[in-house]
Amino acid sequence: MDIPVTVLILAAGLGTRMKSKKAKVLHRAGGMALIEHVTDAALELAPPERVFIVVGHQADEVMAAVGDRGVRFVQQAEPKGTGHAVMAAREALEGAGGLLLVLYGDAPLLTAETLLRLVARQQQGDVAATVLTAMLDDPAGYGRILRDEHGRVRAIVEQKAATPAQLAVREINSGIYCFDSGLLWKHIGAIKPENQAKEYYLTDIVGILHGKGHAIAPLLREDPQELLGINTRAELAAVDRIVRDRTVRRLMLEGVTIEKPETVTIDSSVSIGMDTVIEPFAQVLGRTTIGEDCVIGACSIIRGSQLSDGVVVEPFTLVLDSTVESGARVGPFARVRMESHVGREARVGNFVELKKARLGAGAKSLHLAYLGDTEIGEEANIGAGTITCNYDGLRKHRTKIGRGVFVGSNATLVAPVVIGDGSYIGAGSVVTENVPEDALALGRARQVNKPEWAKKRRERKLRPDTQG
Ligand code: UD1
Ligand code: MG
Repeated sequence: MDIPVTVLILAAGLGTRMKSKKAKVLHRAGGMALIEHVTDAALELAPPERVFIVVGHQADEVMAAVGDRGVRFVQQAEPKGTGHAVMAAREALEGAGGLLLVLYGDAPLLTAETLLRLVARQQQGDVAATVLTAMLDDPAGYGRILRDEHGRVRAIVEQKAATPAQLAVREINSGIYCFDSGLLWKHIGAIKPENQAKEYYLTDIVGILHGKGHAIAPLLREDPQELLGINTRAELAAVDRIVRDRTVRRLMLEGVTIEKPETVTIDSSVSIGMDTVIEPFAQVLGRTTIGEDCVIGACSIIRGSQLSDGVVVEPFTLVLDSTVESGARVGPFARVRMESHVGREARVGNFVELKKARLGAGAKSLHLAYLGDTEIGEEANIGAGTITCNYDGLRKHRTKIGRGVFVGSNATLVAPVVIGDGSYIGAGSVVTENVPEDALALGRARQVNKPEWAKKRRERKLRPDTQG
């Protein structure tokens, strides 16, 4: 029978080499914090009550980042090294028995498939621990794997402590291990901070177990990419690219057309339906879902939004934290934000901004408008240049525009105001009072025509005594 697995993720470190005010594991790759990636991989192996995260530096923020996953946390009071972080979890974990899988929170590319292989190797029961390793052309910065004459791991030596001969070793420690937890807890106390950094190195446990006559198996991964750890901003950027490439490949396999895939920015949390086309330089971010047969125009940004089937987003458009129903068209150069809702077959055109606005099915606002805190009924037509004045300097007020209303160009609707179903607003009106259903509202100065006025003026100017 399989031995139960508990996962321990180390995420209490400062991440000094990032040169950041923010804890390293909170930096993002592919739109998710590093700790989220690692936690999600862990959750494919073990239920949340068996996944523990060691937190310390910015503990509250790290816990909040994965707060919705239901995992457990242990505190490391001071960041005294990876070995010290594991010791901090002793009380919580010693009773769990079985296998302990240790992961570092700064290696987000790891897949559950690889973790399963590591656990399967350890399940064979003939070794005290299994260490995931890889061959790197440039192993600088990583701990090096030292093997014994049987090809087992004899010790791990950190870059800083390595001799020139050891530095030449290309096999590196990924920082991912599966331990027989009984043996780990029995010997962990032997780790001492006897190194230049005065830290408790978890890697020392390998040499300690070996010294006690226990075997440690290496599991060499063919593809080293997955094991990359992030210590600097440059490494973060490289890993971000890899995460996004993976997402783009997944989406293409699911039937999404992505034009010039190297130019788009798509977060891992995004889902997109079949036959949707993503044009160059588009960004699709956060918890966004896009239906089938949509087009996301070049240079558009869709974030935290839900788009139904057949939606067309023209180029250079922002859709942020909003919903767009099927068959609607938005853009080019539109801005739809803050819980706005664009109804079925509705249209939002260039330089139109929707903020907390609901546009009913088939309604149109095609040019140059600001519609804030506004509800617009089905099939209404909002003329070019319409502005809802929703803010009086102190508070926001709502505008309600009924079904089938025709708002003439350059109307100014001073909220709070209600425009009844089927009514008309004359172009250029300033509307400060409610408009009854089916009425025509005119709120502008009456036009005065002065016959011949321009002609007479021209003639006056042409007379010699008035020239110059
Ligand atoms: C570590 C390994 C190194 C390996 C590399 C792989 C050690 C001593 N070295 O080095 O052999 O090649 O990872 O990426 O383990 N952390 C804590 N508490 C602490 C210190 C660190 O929780 O006191 C956490 C960090 O938040 C981080 C992880 O442990 O997520 C790894 O720490 P880091 O400082 O990045 O170790 P490396 O120097 O990369
Ligand atoms: Mg690291």
